Amino acid sequence: MALEVLFFGAGAIGAFYGSRLALVPNTNVSVICRSNYAAVKANGFKVTSPQYGEYKWTPTRTFNSPDAARQSGVSWDYVVVTTKALPNVSDDSKLLEGLITPKTAVVLIQNGLGVEEPYAQRFSKSSILSAVTIASAAQPTNGHIEHNRWTRINIGPYYSEPTSTAARSQATEQNRVLVDLLQRGGIKDAKADTHEKLQWVRWHKIAINAAMNPSSVLSGGTASQAMSLDSELYRHLKGVMDEVLETAPKVIGTPLPSEFATSEALLRSTQKNNSGSKPSMASDWEGGKPMELEVILGNPIRLARAKGIEMPRLQTLYALLKKKEANRSEKAQKKKKESSSKL
Ligand SMILES: NC(=O)c1ccc[n+]([C@@H]2O[C@H](COP(=O)([O-])OP(=O)(O)OC[C@H]3O[C@@H](n4cnc5c(N)ncnc54)[C@H](OP(=O)(O)O)[C@@H]3O)[C@@H](O)[C@H]2O)c1
Repeated sequence: MALEVLFFGAGAIGAFYGSRLALVPNTNVSVICRSNYAAVKANGFKVTSPQYGEYKWTPTRTFNSPDAARQSGVSWDYVVVTTKALPNVSDDSKLLEGLITPKTAVVLIQNGLGVEEPYAQRFSKSSILSAVTIASAAQPTNGHIEHNRWTRINIGPYYSEPTSTAARSQATEQNRVLVDLLQRGGIKDAKADTHEKLQWVRWHKIAINAAMNPSSVLSGGTASQAMSLDSELYRHLKGVMDEVLETAPKVIGTPLPSEFATSEALLRSTQKNNSGSKPSMASDWEGGKPMELEVILGNPIRLARAKGIEMPRLQTLYALLKKKEANRSEKAQKKKKESSSKL
């Protein structure tokens, strides 16, 4: 019997990894789309990549909502969540009710901290797999996935509470199988990690995201390389990264593993990256979309605070951006009210 994989939120990252998994024999990959549904239903996805070339991918099934996926009656082995993590806008775990059985592994390929918890609470009988990717991808038009560079994805089981040995071994095996499938689909640097290691990978990625993303928005959409080459911004970015890397060991309870890059090394590599790319939060802001502020800034701040630690640099960025976003929605609502009162 074929393995059934469902991607929830088939945008840049979902469609990219989905298209690689779909190359593995005996693996059916289906998608739940939203604004790109009509384009994908009609023509499938076109993927362009410097590494894999240009190819077309037609998912096994294309749904326009979780409800349509429920009505299909398929029993899913993996449900992979690749929506933006916006807990202040929508509890996406709720939308998946009825799609997850105890044999389903829920996989979260999302940036940020604490993204697993709503799923772990709601689907406590299922395995939760947590994934961090450094791939860079975009969807410039509906159905066209542009893979820009990098493919690395780390995946590990997530345990919210003390978990039985049987549940741990089920999650570890589902994790191993998924990583193996990705590797067979050409993602050579897909890697299986433990729960503990994966949380370190998440915190380390936060050092990058919490520094680059908000700073780009607040500096008017500056590209990552340009920020890292500006001497004053360099000090700021390094300060944010160091704050995260110094706080993480106190929250996690183990020292920073030596294999993780320092703030200097991260910034050196950004200085060399002349792709001109902007952090995704800047593109979201410019596109009038909500930003992943809660999982990239709010949750690290709250996790640290629970241990009596303040993160003043992150807190400043969080407070300023939250207000910037709130002001924008207030303005939009006012405009909407005014135009509807004219009708
Ligand atoms: N793109 C990258 O290079 C990159 C790299 C590393 C990590 N990440 C992380 O990966 C995650 C996904 O990012 P992304 O760039 O792939 O975002 P994206 O391109 O916006 O894709 C998310 C997709 O989910 C869809 N969606 C959201 N809610 C839905 C719902 N209720 N029902 C059906 N579809 C829904 C969106 O539809 P709409 O278009 O209608 O909103 C969109 O197609 C984020 O956490 C991001 O930070 C991204």
